[in-house]
Amino acid sequence: MKQKIIVTGGCGYIGSHTVIELITHQFEVVILDDLSNSNIKTLDRIEKITGVRPIFEEIDLKDTEKTKAAFSKHADAVAVIHFAAYKAVAESVQNPVMYYKNNFFSLLNTLEAQLQEGIHNFIFSSSATVYGNPKTLPITEENEVQRPFSPYGNTKKIAEEILEDIVKANTGFSSISLRYFNPIGAHTSGDLGELPNGIPNNLMPYITQTAAGIRKELQVFGDDYDTKDGTAIRDYIHVVDLADAHVKAVKRLIHKEQEQALEIFNLGTGNGYTVLEVIQSFEKITEKPLNYRIVGRRAGDVPALYASTKMAKEKLGWETTLGIDDMISTSWKWEENLKNE
Ligand code: UFG
Repeated sequence: MKQKIIVTGGCGYIGSHTVIELITHQFEVVILDDLSNSNIKTLDRIEKITGVRPIFEEIDLKDTEKTKAAFSKHADAVAVIHFAAYKAVAESVQNPVMYYKNNFFSLLNTLEAQLQEGIHNFIFSSSATVYGNPKTLPITEENEVQRPFSPYGNTKKIAEEILEDIVKANTGFSSISLRYFNPIGAHTSGDLGELPNGIPNNLMPYITQTAAGIRKELQVFGDDYDTKDGTAIRDYIHVVDLADAHVKAVKRLIHKEQEQALEIFNLGTGNGYTVLEVIQSFEKITEKPLNYRIVGRRAGDVPALYASTKMAKEKLGWETTLGIDDMISTSWKWEENLKNE
């Protein structure tokens, strides 16, 4: 019998790559997704890559009763991976109510429904944004958590606090919160990748869309940071490596290997790249010159973020295998494939 995992937001960017890794590792997957920021075609893509079509329930997790009904139907699940959330930083600054409502209603309905069904393992999609502007680098899980700049980021910080309370109150309930650094890249097949809605906010989709002629030019936000070339440093991580960490986390929970009821892990490579280094690598790998221009800093950006990977390596037994060149080449392959859609 395959073990069943419920994946909320499983049609999204990180969710869909995780579904592939789960299926590859012989789990049965149930996706709960309202398709508000994802596409039903993702199910075809997952099936093409794995040969298996995951079970799919179209459901808005803000709806308490429908969420309970979905969990009751899949009460035999052994764990939940919760990706479903809004994630655009600037949009959250414009519309905090929408962000707090969506991200917390979905989180709380999911937790309530799974507790009711006795599903005791929960993996949460968190973010390095909870470290704010870190005082020391690389960032370990012991680094101080700060009030994030954006309402989006704050939903991640508060969600982790909610989880602290929930594991205390519910004996046997275990959770792992995964703090992602900067996920980029696409499935190596070229059949699955990020589908940003409208104008991308993030660097890599903006780069590939500019190179593809969809956007006129890339704006590089600031070249006056205290870094080697003045542009900001981030820890980019391949989405397939990130997905693999979720499988490791699921197994750790199922096999009851966790040392605390709530564990937190950074997911990054430990390597920081500046914006200009990413652009240069892109130009080298694709042999396409990129039209870019330096402009002022973007509000809320911090100069440098990169992870200490020690804890994830020691406790999850997880290490990244794909480097910046793989991240760029797969992102570009996906962008080129999208043209033929
Ligand atoms: N950048 C540009 N031009 C662009 C887009 C981005 O120069 O058009 C720069 C940014 O200023 C930043 C770097 O590229 O220095 C990376 O920017 P992203 O928007 O790709 O990623 P962020 O680091 O800003 O944000 C990401 C996630 C958030 C998460 C945050 C945690 O998108 O969800 O990391 O730090 F909150």
